[in-house]
Amino acid sequence: MLRLGISSPAPDTLMSLIDSLRSAFKSSKSSSGPKKTVSRGKIDVETRFSRQRTAVTGTMANFFVAKDHENDDRLVGVKVVELEKYNLFESRFKGLKKPSEGEIAMGMTHPHIAETYETGFSTRGEPVIVMEYVAGPSLQNIVVQKQEHHLTGKRVKLIREMAEALQYVHQKGFIHRDICPRNFILTPGSESIKLIDFGLTLPATAPFMTPGNRTGTPLYMSPEIIRRRATDQRVDIFSFGVTCYCMCCFEHPWQGEILNGRAALHHDTSQPKELLDRCPKLDPRLARAIMGALQPKVEERTPDIGQFLQAIRGVQADEVE
Ligand SMILES: Nc1ncnc2c1ncn2[C@@H]1O[C@H](COP(=O)(O)OP(=O)(O)OP(=O)(O)O)[C@@H](O)[C@H]1O
Ligand SMILES: [Mg+2]
Repeated sequence: MLRLGISSPAPDTLMSLIDSLRSAFKSSKSSSGPKKTVSRGKIDVETRFSRQRTAVTGTMANFFVAKDHENDDRLVGVKVVELEKYNLFESRFKGLKKPSEGEIAMGMTHPHIAETYETGFSTRGEPVIVMEYVAGPSLQNIVVQKQEHHLTGKRVKLIREMAEALQYVHQKGFIHRDICPRNFILTPGSESIKLIDFGLTLPATAPFMTPGNRTGTPLYMSPEIIRRRATDQRVDIFSFGVTCYCMCCFEHPWQGEILNGRAALHHDTSQPKELLDRCPKLDPRLARAIMGALQPKVEERTPDIGQFLQAIRGVQADEVE
């Protein structure tokens, strides 16, 4: 169930803009919007939604943007999870009463987490999640294509929002387990950022934290997951630190030739490159906080995302003069 840190296609910026305008128009027309629903009946994906463009194929699911005919043709994102992969993942937690991805996502209400409107099953039995469509580029595109203009002067603001989203997930008692640039999407104009994808998320309770569950995105995966050691919420802090680092300098802290699952094996065998060496103008408090989050040794890592937020509290601008 390893995922590779590869790039996804660049979004069509013009279409994104049009979508966001449409979406803003729709939401102002029906301000209450659809209520959160767990569908008892089957969701007929083909008749209920009109697809607006090519779908994105993820590791576990297909995602498409569509008009929802049951909610005033509102523009939504629809994630249809591949049944076989879903069952394979869920079978790891047999007897543990693991909440489903949809159930977890429905419980997350935060300005920096894409809102889930509805969850249920398709007529073919696949898990379906209907959610807010976040129309900007994904952080993955920005990092891989080094699109500086999306981030200039906005990094500390966006990083704070990402940390707040993660803090909320942790306070809700979960470990996201797939924090990486693919799972953060910007709103148009890079005004704000939202966390998506609770496909690998687990409750932060003992039965789910036992060693052995090696899932996630290798380039962002903590050594304790790779080495099959016990895990806790600090696995997300490591992945978050690596994500922020990539966002600051468009390079990976363990930059190397290998970009596949084996890359993660280097996270505790060699030192990460100092962020301030790569970005000397970055506010040192921000650089220090990021380096603290990506420490390979759990006991040396920032233990709590609240502590990360505290460390960057006084940082107003990305760079110092
Ligand atoms: N709410 C959303 N708004 C905009 N785009 C989204 C949204 N949810 C998902 N996507 C897009 O669809 C892709 C796949 O969705 P998601 O990450 O939830 O599934 P996945 O199977 O885990 O895929 P991946 O391997 O990319 O993580 C995302 O990488 C993103 O490009
Ligand atoms: Mg994803």
